[in-house]
Amino acid sequence: MENELINLKNNALSLILEAEDEKELEEIKLQFLGRSGKLTQAIRKLPKIDIEKRKELGVLANEVKETIEASVDEKKKQLKKGILMSKIRKIDVTNPGIKPQIGHLHLVTQAISEITSIFEKIGFVRVRYPEVEWDWYAFEALNFPKDHPARDDWETFFIDGASHKKYGPMLLTPHTSSGQIREMSNAVKSSVSGEISPIKMLNIAKCYRRQSDVSHTPMFHQFEGLAIDKNLSIVNLKGVLDYFVKSYFGEKRVSRIRPYHFEFTEPSFEVDVSCGVCNGQGCSLCKDGWLELGGAGMVHPNVLKNTGIDPDKFNGFAFGWGVERALMMKDGLEIDDLRLIYSNKLEFLEQF
Ligand code: DAH
Repeated sequence: MENELINLKNNALSLILEAEDEKELEEIKLQFLGRSGKLTQAIRKLPKIDIEKRKELGVLANEVKETIEASVDEKKKQLKKGILMSKIRKIDVTNPGIKPQIGHLHLVTQAISEITSIFEKIGFVRVRYPEVEWDWYAFEALNFPKDHPARDDWETFFIDGASHKKYGPMLLTPHTSSGQIREMSNAVKSSVSGEISPIKMLNIAKCYRRQSDVSHTPMFHQFEGLAIDKNLSIVNLKGVLDYFVKSYFGEKRVSRIRPYHFEFTEPSFEVDVSCGVCNGQGCSLCKDGWLELGGAGMVHPNVLKNTGIDPDKFNGFAFGWGVERALMMKDGLEIDDLRLIYSNKLEFLEQF
């Protein structure tokens, strides 16, 4: 038995010495120390041996086991070092380098920058407000009735267990209009004897709704404009719309407003843009020559009052549109499934 153990050790060590890679080393280890390995089988015979001798052999068997393990580890280290050295030897410093892959901004980020610079030219200032918000800012102060369907948790994501004494439940902003309330409240806070500074705000942010299909993703972006001053009118709103439509979609495109209903504007409109494919003549894409962009209107007096602004002194207009939607309405951009934008597929993203 003693000889058997010593032979096993010698046998293993010579194999380890010759091994050429890690895989081979693992196989050797298995061959000796595995469940049915040679050493394991030899150890299984120990209980049959008489007690005095058994102790001695037990110690020896253990030693053999530890020696094999340590030799395998040592050889692994040597192999690794060898690979590194051979790699270093192979480096040719005169070789031209491998060009790193250069990425670019995501197409939604590009659209956000373009939209921002268009509005900045006419004095709108980009702001950022929370995208995890209290109900007051997203609904209540915007004049939404308590039972409005958008306040249902089928439409809006509410945060479990978080609620403010004054501002109600916490939610993920379902639209960027919450920024209107933040902006007007801030203007009131910094006003001097009831005189607020005029506002020209552009709030671009992430919005969240429980929806997912070819034209909806649960997370999307909106850009929201708000102008507050004295004696603003629908004419000012229409001028801004036309300016944006021509700057973003092209000189040939025009805007049109249709009466609509929103809780926070009075009167309210739906804004359409003439179709770029048929130039407003009517085609299979647009049907009647127009594509719907989003909502707009004159700020409701209740909304002004809710933020502390006197509706007899100030008025304003607002608009809110989807970034992805505006992007898809650009000429020649035929994205037939909005979800592609967030799919992280390089074949798609590299085209922009
Ligand atoms: N917040 C509205 C929505 O998400 C869009 C909207 C409509 C924004 C009219 C406005 C507005 O500022 O005046 O559907």
